[in-house]
Amino acid sequence: MDTEKMSAEFLLKQLPGGEFSMRSVNIGETFHPVIGARREAENLYLAQFNVSGRCARAGAPLTVWDVGLGAAGNAMHLIECWACQPQRDLRLVSFDLDDRALRFALKAHAEDETKFPWLAGWDWEKILREQGGRFTVSGRQLCWEWRLADFPGLLADPSVSWSAAPELIFYDAYSPAKCWRMWTLTHWRNVRRRCPDDCEIAFHSRATALRVTLLLAGFYVGRGVAIGEKEETTVAATRRTLLRRPLDEMWLRRVRRSTSAEPYTGGQYTQSSISAGHLAALSAHPQFQSAGWN
Ligand SMILES: C[S@@+](CC[C@H](N)C(=O)[O-])C[C@H]1O[C@@H](n2cnc3c(N)ncnc32)[C@H](O)[C@@H]1O
Repeated sequence: MDTEKMSAEFLLKQLPGGEFSMRSVNIGETFHPVIGARREAENLYLAQFNVSGRCARAGAPLTVWDVGLGAAGNAMHLIECWACQPQRDLRLVSFDLDDRALRFALKAHAEDETKFPWLAGWDWEKILREQGGRFTVSGRQLCWEWRLADFPGLLADPSVSWSAAPELIFYDAYSPAKCWRMWTLTHWRNVRRRCPDDCEIAFHSRATALRVTLLLAGFYVGRGVAIGEKEETTVAATRRTLLRRPLDEMWLRRVRRSTSAEPYTGGQYTQSSISAGHLAALSAHPQFQSAGWN
């Protein structure tokens, strides 16, 4: 392990609540910056999507995409939640460009086990080598598969094979200003194609441009739970009835006045008012036509 390079790439960062997270030096963003990994995973994904209820119901395996494996905060909190009452198998697919953030966190945890505590008790050497693994808890199977590649590139590649479609997606990417490829309309249309069934996706952001992008990609979009000092986040779903608080006509009216509502198209992050063509397409979205709710 190239420690010097890793410490130049990531920094340990103490959060206001006292727990430690990490910061990408190149990108200039901190993982789970406000409330830390555990509370963020619990609020944004596990409670919001009633994951423990889903795990406690018998049925087909629960398939979750963990986009942005990072230091495995979201993945391990999901596994912990599933392992409490596993009535269904769990198929967890984690995506990242590489495992460098995780290796950094593992090194920090090995030096002080209070840092990244969710990493305790697992055979990481084997997991890193096998890029995931298969585990049994109370007779139920966890299949954890890593895909270490550019996520938008994987989705755009017709030769890539996919197993079961996701029921939930935990979308934890760097911001559009820093990681444009993960947010474009073209990319979200590709994600939508891979979600043919009931699927819900959670995001930290409540940006109007993100919500417009998701709607134009074919998702239904609603307001998500508050986390930390963010009073609102975003949820996208393949059906309107999956949303607890769908965006409504009032939101659509505000889009017209927003100076940052143009969907994420083009080669780089920019902000502007929505174009007439995109506004027409947005207004025609079934989410805003009462006859089109499903
Ligand atoms: C905010 S961190 C994720 C934190 C993680 N969910 C956790 O709980 O620790 C964002 C992650 O997205 C990954 N990433 C950036 N660009 C990517 C891309 N094009 N494809 C896949 N992953 C990418 C980064 O390597 C980084 O680990």
